[in-house]
Amino acid sequence: MYTGAFGTSKSNSLMNEYASLLGDAVLRHRARVAEQSARIEAELASKVKSEFIANMSHELRTPLNTVIGFSKLLAEHQRRNLPDAEIVEYAVLINDAAGHLLSVINDILDISKIQSGKYTIDSREVSIEEILIASINSFRLIAKEADVTIGKTIAYDLPVVRGDAVKLRQIFTNVLSNAIKFTPRGGAIDVEALRAHDGGVTVLIRDSGVGMNPEDISVALTPFGQVDAGKARWREGTGLGLPIAKALIELHGGLIEIRSRKDVGTEVAIALPSRNSVSPVDHHDLPDLRSINS
Ligand SMILES: Nc1ncnc2c1ncn2[C@@H]1O[C@H](COP(=O)(O)OP(=O)(O)OP(=O)(O)O)[C@@H](O)[C@H]1O
Ligand SMILES: [Mg+2]
Repeated sequence: MYTGAFGTSKSNSLMNEYASLLGDAVLRHRARVAEQSARIEAELASKVKSEFIANMSHELRTPLNTVIGFSKLLAEHQRRNLPDAEIVEYAVLINDAAGHLLSVINDILDISKIQSGKYTIDSREVSIEEILIASINSFRLIAKEADVTIGKTIAYDLPVVRGDAVKLRQIFTNVLSNAIKFTPRGGAIDVEALRAHDGGVTVLIRDSGVGMNPEDISVALTPFGQVDAGKARWREGTGLGLPIAKALIELHGGLIEIRSRKDVGTEVAIALPSRNSVSPVDHHDLPDLRSINS
């Protein structure tokens, strides 16, 4: 019997019923997935929040206690008969602590401004090579004290990009400071800058440090998120360096990608679009992050 192109009315109604059951199942599954990811996000946010409060009070109290304690000693220098060298030493400690406090406060103001969408950046032609070299040089002394070497390879044909020199320096500084901070003595950091396929610039910053598990990378990129924050706080910080770097890179139309392996090291790739690019960097423009995953 010929039933026509769309079958009998009975088979049509069965098909309709089946389609509606299937549609309901898909909707239920989607709702479950959305609920699950909302729960995971809320759990992560609440974990990060409580760690933030513990961490933040440490980050603010430590320098403030230094300022209060040593300025009190300075005020009593005559009664205590302090030698000049000690007075200078205390003044330097107060200055360092106040500088650290200012940078923590600046980071908090930066991230809240970025999150409110009110952050703007300059767009001028800049030399990534110059900015990168200045950032690396500013870490020479710290790296020496930490017994970590910093090597650099900068391509001769690096194109000029458009961006904000101060913010680009902040990006490299934040990533480099992590590389030094999380690399034990005797370790090595490697900085490479190369021309990307799209005519932009890719900067790779690798370290042979403590690394992270792949699932910890999203925590590291969350504001105030620190991996192993509950454990002994052998490393200072507020957990804002990476999220600020990520936001600033994205404001440049660029991308950040992190690959890391526990006890092997971390590789951070920063892709910045070319001067003439009208569209942001595509994920495919990032080279394979080699050493960590091989
Ligand atoms: N190169 C790295 N190697 C291993 N872990 C890293 C590395 N970079 C970042 N992390 C992990 O990611 C976390 C977040 O990094 P981020 O720079 O945002 O914060 P921080 O360095 O702890 O503090 P801040 O930068 O605000 O002073 C770090 O606490 C650390 O656990
Ligand atoms: Mg940091």
